[in-house]
Amino acid sequence: MPIPHTDVMPEAEFDTLTVSRGVGQPPAVDLLLPVDELPESSSSPDLVCRRVRDELMLDGNARLNLATFVTTWMEPQARELMAETAEKNLADRAEYPQITAMEERCVRMLARLWHAPHPEQVRGCSTTGSSEAAMLGGLALKRRWQERRRAQGKDTARPNIVMGANVQVCWKKFANYFEVEPRYVPMEPGRYHLTADALTAYCDDNTIGVVTILGSTFDGSYEPVADICMALDGYQAATGTDIPVHVDGASGAMVAPFLDPDLMWDFQLERVASINTSGHKYGHVFPGLGWALWRDAEALPDDLVFEVDYLGGSSPSFTLNFSRPGAHVVAQYYSFLRYGFEGLRNLAAQSRSTARALAARIRTIGPYELITDGSELPAFAFRLTPGTQGCTVFDVSHAMRARGWHLPAYSFPAPCQDVSVLRLVVRTGFTAELAGMFIADLTEVTRNLHTTLPTLAPPHQPLVTA
Ligand SMILES: Cc1ncc(COP(=O)(O)O)c(C=O)c1O
Repeated sequence: MPIPHTDVMPEAEFDTLTVSRGVGQPPAVDLLLPVDELPESSSSPDLVCRRVRDELMLDGNARLNLATFVTTWMEPQARELMAETAEKNLADRAEYPQITAMEERCVRMLARLWHAPHPEQVRGCSTTGSSEAAMLGGLALKRRWQERRRAQGKDTARPNIVMGANVQVCWKKFANYFEVEPRYVPMEPGRYHLTADALTAYCDDNTIGVVTILGSTFDGSYEPVADICMALDGYQAATGTDIPVHVDGASGAMVAPFLDPDLMWDFQLERVASINTSGHKYGHVFPGLGWALWRDAEALPDDLVFEVDYLGGSSPSFTLNFSRPGAHVVAQYYSFLRYGFEGLRNLAAQSRSTARALAARIRTIGPYELITDGSELPAFAFRLTPGTQGCTVFDVSHAMRARGWHLPAYSFPAPCQDVSVLRLVVRTGFTAELAGMFIADLTEVTRNLHTTLPTLAPPHQPLVTA
């Protein structure tokens, strides 16, 4: 059936137009297109596509982006599946019951991976990322606290949430958007994430929960979740106040299960009520996909869950968005089936081994001091040795940018604002060859900025990572 259209030039004329301008000629019409207001009329799809592509060339190369934790490489088969399902809306559960089934299976797989004592009782959903998952986790904590307080006849006016000053901005947003007082346990020189020591001084009857991070966005370190839970056990014994824990495993919940099987951080710890992760970080899916899981129905109050019955049965829904891409869930399902436990362990191990090798090498090429060494998340932070004259980490970052590498520099929050670091994140796709080129460039950049450099590694030497 012909598609009715308005005043659009027929396709053939567009073709003539394109051809008449000559293949390889700069298309004059592109230059005339307004970019801050809607063009008055339509243009050829080919011309516009070329125009958009040209603009996109100015963006960075995702594979050279060492700043992001987000997946920048996927197998062609996974890309194909995403392209084939690009039009599928996760919210249309009646139309796409199979994607819903895939989502539920992914939740079950994660529940088992995170040692839920009763995986069948776990409630969970996909989200657009860890930020949305964090909002949901925080909301559930808040609602549970309100219900408890109301049942005790106590007021619910001043909820607070306790977390390290190193939390990712999503937790600051949660506190702001959902009107919960944020209580940040500050960093100290040499302690750049939340630990059990200082924690309970920040807790009281109005604390809806404690957020712990696996691992920290600032430096890739794991927070000691088990110690934190133990400190809260002690606090409960002393005060009677039972404070649940949410684990923000945006990156680490897809790393630790494979590489740190002895680490206690997940649903094995009774106090852990909920966990989030980003499928689009070490879950090997392009952005944006996240997951939020609750240990059981008690951890996710019923009145936050909307029952959707499009499927004939009843399907619980608890997300901020309604319409969302189904393609990301399909890609996650693919990556779980494709790699399995062993494959995911190998990918994570490769990234960690590259990160550790890079960290070890960086120590030797200039006046650098490691804050972390890549042995937790495959990411680490390093700084210029205090007292280094003549350049800052911001200069290094800037000079690396000119070579195409995006290596971010930033300062830690007060009172550690004097600590300025560079952070490097290793993901699948950052090969040993790329790592070798990176080291060669960093060596040269450092030498140029800081002339008294010690002995240098040979340039463009592939990094031996394992
Ligand atoms: C610890 C932590 N939590 C939450 C987030 C936010 O995740 P997303 O980008 O998936 O929303 C990040 C992002 O880097 C993170 O590192």
